[in-house]
Order: sequence, then C-alpha cells, then structure tokens
Amino acid sequence: MCGIVGYIGNNAVAEELLSGLKSLEYRGYDSSGIALNDNRKIIVFKASGKLSNLNAVLHEKNVEDYSSFMGIGHIRWATHGAPSIENAHPHLSNDGNLVLVHNGIIENYKELRQKLQNQGVVFHSQTDTEAAVHLFAEEYKKCGSLEQAVRNGLPQLKGAFAFVIMHHAESDKIIAVRKNAPLIIGCGKNENYVASDIPALLGKVNHIIHLDDDEMAVVKKNEVIVKYINGQVVQKEMEKVDMAADVISKNGYAHFMLKEICEQPAILRRVIQSHVQNQTIYLDDAKINVDFDKVKKIVIVACGTSLHAALVAKKVWEEWLKLPVQVEAASEFIYQTNLLDENSLVIGVSQSGETADTITALKLAKKYQSQIMVLTNRVDSSIVRYASSIVPLNAGVEISVAATKSYMAQLVAFYWFGLLFAQKLNKISELDWQQKLQILIQLPEKIEEILSHQNDIESIAQRLTRYSAVVFMARGFNLPTAYEAALKLKEISYINANAYPAGELKHGPIALLDKNMPVLALFEQGQNAPKLLSNCEEAKARQAPVIGIGGEKCSDIFNEYIETPEVDACFSPLLLCVPVQLLAYFTAKALNREIDQPRNLAKSVTVE
Ligand code: F6R
Repeated sequence: MCGIVGYIGNNAVAEELLSGLKSLEYRGYDSSGIALNDNRKIIVFKASGKLSNLNAVLHEKNVEDYSSFMGIGHIRWATHGAPSIENAHPHLSNDGNLVLVHNGIIENYKELRQKLQNQGVVFHSQTDTEAAVHLFAEEYKKCGSLEQAVRNGLPQLKGAFAFVIMHHAESDKIIAVRKNAPLIIGCGKNENYVASDIPALLGKVNHIIHLDDDEMAVVKKNEVIVKYINGQVVQKEMEKVDMAADVISKNGYAHFMLKEICEQPAILRRVIQSHVQNQTIYLDDAKINVDFDKVKKIVIVACGTSLHAALVAKKVWEEWLKLPVQVEAASEFIYQTNLLDENSLVIGVSQSGETADTITALKLAKKYQSQIMVLTNRVDSSIVRYASSIVPLNAGVEISVAATKSYMAQLVAFYWFGLLFAQKLNKISELDWQQKLQILIQLPEKIEEILSHQNDIESIAQRLTRYSAVVFMARGFNLPTAYEAALKLKEISYINANAYPAGELKHGPIALLDKNMPVLALFEQGQNAPKLLSNCEEAKARQAPVIGIGGEKCSDIFNEYIETPEVDACFSPLLLCVPVQLLAYFTAKALNREIDQPRNLAKSVTVE
C-alpha cells in the first residue's frame, strides 16, 4: 500500500530509486514519482500508472544529466484522490524547497488543510499527504531546520504514516519517520537507503535498521542517527539482511503467481523437514508463549485470503480441540461486542504482517488482556509487535498480489499448530496424532500430482473465459476453499465469482442459474458428497454447466471434472486450493489480464 524509497550516496540516484521502486511494485501501481536534490534545487518527476511510465518520463527528460547525490521516490496505491499526476508523490511545498513521500493515511488532513488554507497556503492535489508537506514547510519557515520542522509538525498529524523528506538547503540528509507504517534503513558504505520493505534493498546492502513507531532517522551518506520524535537519540541494532537476492526473480515462469503456486510442494517439504523429527512436531522457529491450559476460547482475525485460511482452521480445530473457535473479518472486529478476557487466545493471521485492519483488531484484543498470537510470513513486520507468540509461515517472499503459497503456508501452520495444541490439551490419541502427521507428510507429493495436470486445468480455464459470472459451492471443510476460489478468480480475471454453502443455493442464489452461469462444486470424501452431488443435479436441471473438482469422479453429470488425489476430508482444503488457484491463473492468462498486479489492488493493505 504505497512503497517509498530514499537514497543518499554516489551512485546514479534516479537509477537507485527506480530499482528500489521496481521491487516495491507489489505495494501499489497507480502512479509513481521521484524527487532529486540537484545542486540545492528540488526536481520532481512523476507519471500516472505503472512504473514503466515513470521510466519513460525519466528517459525523455534525460534524468542522467542531473548531478544529484540524494533523492526520494514513491509508488502509489490511491487512497485519497484519483491516480492522477497531481495526486502522485513526491509532494512539493509551494516554495519548491521541501519535498516528501508518504505511506499511510493522515486522518485529520481535512482540518489541517482548512487551517493551512486559512493561512493562505494553496493546495494542488486531493491527497491527504499534501497537508503534511505544507505543514512541515510552514514549520521550516519558523525554525530553519528540517529535523526541527518535522519534529514540530509530527504531533499535529493523526493517523498512520511513514515519511521520507528532503529540503533543498540541507543537501546532506534525508529524514525518515515512522508511525504505524513500515520503514527500514539500508546501511551501506558511503551510501544509505530508506525503504518500505526489504526487497527494495536486496543486492544493495547487507545490513538494515528497522525503525519503530515514533522514531525518526537522520540519514546522511556516512551516518544514520535514529531519534525518538522528541529528539532523544535511540541506540538501534543493525540487523543482517537474510533474504536471497533472487527471491524477486520469476525464475523462468511467465508470472510470479504461477511460480508461487508451483513452489508449494517445496515449501511444504521444507516446513515438514524443519518441523518433524522422530515423528514429533517441533515448532522451533516459532516463539510460542501460550498458556494452553488457560485457553477457553479462540478468536482468529484476518482479512481476505488469510480470513479464508482462518475459516478452515475453525472447522479443523473445533473438531480436534473441542474448543469454540470464532473467526472474524478484522475490519469488523472493532465494531462488535467481543467477549474477550485473559482466557481468550486471539490469533491474527497476515501474510504481510502490515494489514492495518488486522493490527487494529489485535490492539483491541490486547486491551482485554487476551493472549495474542500471530501467524505471519514476515516476522520483521509490524504485526509481531502486538503478539507474545509468533508463528512464522516460512513461505518465502510472495510477490504476486494474489496470495497462493502464503495461503498454503497459513493452512499448514494451522494444521501443525492444531496438532500441537491437541496434544498439549490431551484431546487426541497417540494413534490418531500419528495418522494425521502421516497425512501431512504425504501432501507435497499429492500437490505435485495436481500440478502435473496443469494442461487439463488450462483447457477448462480457457472455456471458462466465455462466462462473465460463475458460482462456487461446497459443503463441509471446503466451504472456505470455495470462498478462496471465488476471491482468486475475481481478483485476477475480473469474472464475477461468488461462493455459497451448497445447501444455501436453493434458498435464493439458484435464481441466478441458467446456461450462462457455470457452477463449480468442490467435493471432499465423506457423507456430504452425495448431497453435494444432488445440488449439482439441481444446477444441471437449470441448464447451468457443472464443473466438479475433487477426488475420483462420482457421476457423469459433470461438463468438466478436475480430479485430485484422495485424502481425508479434513485435510482436503490443503489439496483443493491448488486446482482453484491454477484455474484462476489460467483463466486470467487466457483473458490477458495483468496477473501479478491486478487492477485496484495492492499486496499490503496498510490502511483501514
Ligand atoms: C488475495 C489477497 C488478499 C490478502 C489480504 C490480507 O489474494 O492476497 O485478500 O489476503 O489483503 O493480507 P495479509 O494476509 O497480508 O494480511
């Protein structure tokens, strides 16, 4: 949700900024821009749309001719104001001296804007950010120091923000500030960087400093000083970057999404190898401080795909642990009466660890003294600060905006943790426990089998492009898989997809069905399969094309069928998510969509 970068050093500044932004494209792609401090003059370049448009502008304006040693850059996911050039960052003060980029939302921007306008300040954009640039510029006029101006301005801002700021007259420093939005400093030799996330720094520096909330860094070429906003110096540890530079390569795949789908067996194998020794589960890399005996209720909060993983966990854990598990969309959690106390375990699930809604929900749960755990793919992210227990997903960096391998890793983490929890609570026999473990161990091979049928799934996907809307349905453990299938298909192909409990169709949605509305049914083993088949018959009777997905084909009524290896129903969400990911991918590919960067979306959603 907006990516920001800064660079100070001897390299070609525009190139450094552009390559940093390229690695942050997953955070937004509505517009982009950079600002250079060239001989004490601020020069801004902007473009709407994809980063390639900015590249073209820089080329056309011969950016290499500028002799700058420092600059800042931004890639935008629009919140306030359309994705236009005037709303693109960097934003410049009216005297042209102070410039900044921003990630987050300034909640009191309307009041600030009004106040500044009353003082005669002219605004040029519809963004919340512009209030900040004029505020700091006005403060600068009073004190003549960038650091002091920022320090004076910050208490007047409400909301979440990470800023990177420069002033034309202070050509030796960039100021970076963080409050509830991620920001890191990359520490090099005779050069330093600022970025929203590590991928922007890969291959450039070996050490980073994570800024915490209410900290600001004065970043110079040979020095980084971190201070609290009150000016007191903070001693920060430099951390080694432990991410390989090639994580942001497609490795020959057409899209990151396909690469990430295909990585799933390898991720599972790696996770299994690191967690299972001598038929026992170890979560060594997890920091688990749960007082298991105290837990009387579990609440899981998450958004989007992570929410669907949580819905699977509810079904599995309630069966295994015999404890009530409540799952809530994090964005709704704060508006309801949550019956939480110190006997509740509240779990936040977030691939990025930066989702504002999920973080806000956890902050609320903390007030009730509940035990807090997070499952995240980014143990360096903001969400871990609110938890006493942290379970890393270890899926590796996920670049495609549509989540796939991180969903799989979330599911696996829930199954592992469910087994561990069931054991601690004596809710599972040794035999049952061992059998479940074996099923998990055999999963990577089964997923590989599904992946080997990509061509068949691609042909079905090509036929799916004829339709403008589809329905997914399921019963039991795979209802969340149906929700995830619909989300995946609509977010990357823009085909309208809805998912329903199969039994609910006849209570209303069946009115939608005709020959132009395919119904995709997700089958799992067990007693619900015959009922789901009857629901398929009902759909067929209304002329709807019916596509089945699941174990061995149990009827001839299907127009198409995607067969998956057999597995116990309770574990089938781990398999069935793969064909629906592939189906979404190949449908979007056939429709020539921007698969890795679907319209209007961003990978990490740092606004509520
Ligand atoms: C869909 C998708 C989103 C995210 C959601 C939560 O493919 O990726 O629905 O799942 O924005 O993100 P995290 O898991 O980072 O909190």
